[in-house]
Parts: sequence; structure tokens; C-alpha cells
Amino acid sequence: MTVKLTLPTQSKMLSKDFVYGVATASFQIEGGKASRLPCIWDTFCDTPNTIADGSNGEMACDHFNRWQDDIELIDSIGVDAYRLSISWPRVITESGELNQEGVAYYMNILDTLKSKRIKAFVTLYHWDLPQHLEDKGGWLNRETAYEFRNYANLISKVFGHRVHAYATLNEPFCSAFLGYEVGTHAPGIIGKEFGKKAAHHLLLAHGLAMEVLAKNSPNTLNGIVLNFTPCYPESESLADINAAAFADDYFNQWYIKPLFDGKYPEILSTLPAAHQPDIHEGDMAIIAHSMDYLGVNFYTRAIYRADVDEHFLQIDPPEPRTDIGWEIYPKAFTELLVSLNEKYRLPPVYITENGAAMADKIIDGVVNDQDRVDYYQQHLNAVNDAIEQGVKVDGYFAWSLMDNFEWAEGYLKRFGIVYVDYETQVRTIKASGLAYKALITNR
Ligand code: FCB
Repeated sequence: MTVKLTLPTQSKMLSKDFVYGVATASFQIEGGKASRLPCIWDTFCDTPNTIADGSNGEMACDHFNRWQDDIELIDSIGVDAYRLSISWPRVITESGELNQEGVAYYMNILDTLKSKRIKAFVTLYHWDLPQHLEDKGGWLNRETAYEFRNYANLISKVFGHRVHAYATLNEPFCSAFLGYEVGTHAPGIIGKEFGKKAAHHLLLAHGLAMEVLAKNSPNTLNGIVLNFTPCYPESESLADINAAAFADDYFNQWYIKPLFDGKYPEILSTLPAAHQPDIHEGDMAIIAHSMDYLGVNFYTRAIYRADVDEHFLQIDPPEPRTDIGWEIYPKAFTELLVSLNEKYRLPPVYITENGAAMADKIIDGVVNDQDRVDYYQQHLNAVNDAIEQGVKVDGYFAWSLMDNFEWAEGYLKRFGIVYVDYETQVRTIKASGLAYKALITNR
């Protein structure tokens, strides 16, 4: 058991240049629904049996009204950077112009961060697609990629020097697979024929946005945030090894290989024609636009066995697990970073999310989340191990700044290093938040 977060004394992660931050996303914390257009998560939450506790994002952490206090909170943790996302339906009107009120809201946030020398890492799309675009097919409609380019173009022109880094998309795997293939996330569409089509339009949107960011915002770090759940075989049998490799291509490499190699994994040709994406000439070159950094989100690994019908079958994760049921296996983090570095010519990597849901209890105003401290201790050191093996990692963001709307889990799963009492909206820094602060400020 660690009470402190520690790294080897000569670790690069103890240098002042290493960027430490906390991360959030618009729909998960903001509320403030009345002053923006509806998004697919509003509609999804209004659909019965989608969210574990039947909740929605109407109030969330009320960050829309409490952002000033929340930035004080962020500052008090001593971080170098804050990763936030922009709500597309808050800043762009239905006719595709800037909504000045929504823009002003984020400008105030960005100006306040700047005045405190906190670097703003801005994600343009963290899953809150305007509902009117979903009504026209959402990510199954190629036009949505061009709508995204328009949004990225307008917003990057007005934000200017306020931003340190842009990410086009957060976790396109989740948007495509969870949203348009298994339907556990908004917009809740189910069908194997949809996932890869949605993924292609998301990646096209990324490439188109990279073009405008490179032009409008050449001095920011421009890139993308991908999530990885490394795939391990259940046994050493060739069948299980092949099953895990197929799953890895389907879930992980599918989203990174096009960015660096300009092509999809070879399993593309083995998918039924009806499940394949609609790739137009020139798309892959757009998608493979050079990037200034790669954002990597890591939480857990997955274990697979061979399956006659479906190529692979995911088995239940072994112990130890977090409160959301994800196995705690930090070694996969190191192995992931090292393997990506071997496979691709990576730009500098930022860990844009890492963290754990734990069953927190607030007792006498204190949250003693030793389990989360242990998770951070193991995973920070797993990143350090990857750095020692030659991976260039320039920063690390804890997910999340505070407990928030955890998508299909609603408010039941707490990922924050700050506890949120949803009745009173009182924030309390957990032991993990204090340990993180100590690590950062004692460098
Ligand atoms: C990631 C999401 C983030 C959060 C964490 C737990 O997939 O990017 O919004 O929900 O998982």
C-alpha cells in the first residue's frame, strides 16, 4: 500500500517539463442544457433502459455555472494542464455558424486557464454530436465529416493562442463501435454493418480537421486521442493467439494504423462486403495527415479465446478489478506503449486518460481512496517503464478531475480524484487527488 505516489528518482516524469494534467469532457460535467442544442446523448438518456441509473446530463456537475470555482480547484491541485472538451452543439448553430454565446463561455474558460498558466488541451469531439446531424444519419453519413471540418475551422480561428493542444476526436472506437455497432452508447444503433462505416467517417472527419488545424493553428499541438484495450490470448494455443490478434486489429489497430500507415489492418478484406466502410479515393491520404502528438487513453486489457462463429470471444476479466469491473493490469500499459512505438513512427505521446472507478465513501468530509492511489502508483510507473524502454511520453492526464456522468453507467461509477456530492455539488479532493498534487508539486 502506498500513501504517496512515487517514481524512480531519475525518472523523466519527475522533470518539470513533463506535463501533468486532469481531464474532463463537456457532456459529463457541464449541464447547462438549456443554452445549447440537443445532442445524441440527451436523446439516448431519454430512451428507456439505456443508462444504468436512468440519469442524464441535464445537471451533471453543473460545471456550466461553477466553472470559475472548478478552475480554482484545478489550479489548487497544481497541474500544468487541463484537458477539456468543447460541446459542438453549444458553439455551432443548426445552420453551421458560430453561436457567440457558447463561444464566449469557452473563451472565458480558456482565458482564465491562460491567466493561471494552465495549458489548455482542447478536445473538439468527446461524443456529443448535435442531434440534428444524427437526424441526417450521424456518423453513418459522410457529410458529418465535412460538418465537423466546418466546426473545427470556425472554432480554431476564434480560439487562437488560448489553446495549447487540440485533439480532433476522443476515442473514435467508442463512438463507432459502442454507438453504431453494439448500441450501448448514443445513438444506440446496432448492427455489424454499421460500426466500420461510422469509424471511417470519424477518421475522415479527423483528417479533414487536421488540415484546417494545421492551417489555422500551426502553433498548437494538433492530434487525436485514441483508447486502447490491449488484447491477450487466454492460452498459448495458436487459435487463442490468432483470436486475440484479430480482436486487436478490430478494436485497436483499426483506429491507429490508418493514421500512420494510411491503410486499415489486413482483416478488412476478410470482413463481409456489407460490413466494410465506404472508402473514397483520397480518403486514406486525408486520414494519414501528420500529427504533432498522439493521445493515448488506457484503463485495462481484455483476454480472448478462439470462437468458431465470431473469430474471438472475450472472457470475463480476472481479479483484481475496479468498481466498473475492469481488470487492473498495469503491465499491459507498458507493453502497449512499447508495441505502438515499435509498430508506428509515433510523434510524442501524451497519456490523455488513465484512472479508475472505485466505490468511494466520504466519511467526515474525507475520501480515503487508497485503492485509487494504488492504481495511479502502478500505472504512473508503468508509463515510466515504457519511457525507459524508449517511448517518448511527454505528459499524463488523470481521468478524471472530478466524479461525473459516466455514460451508460450514469452517476454510479466514480472516476474523480475529486469527490462530487451531486445533491449539493460540493467538491472534496480525495486522497488520490492530494497524492497527485504532492507528486506534481514536489518535482
Ligand atoms: C473513456 C472516456 C471518458 C471516460 C472514461 C472512463 O472511454 O473517454 O469519457 O468515460 O472512459
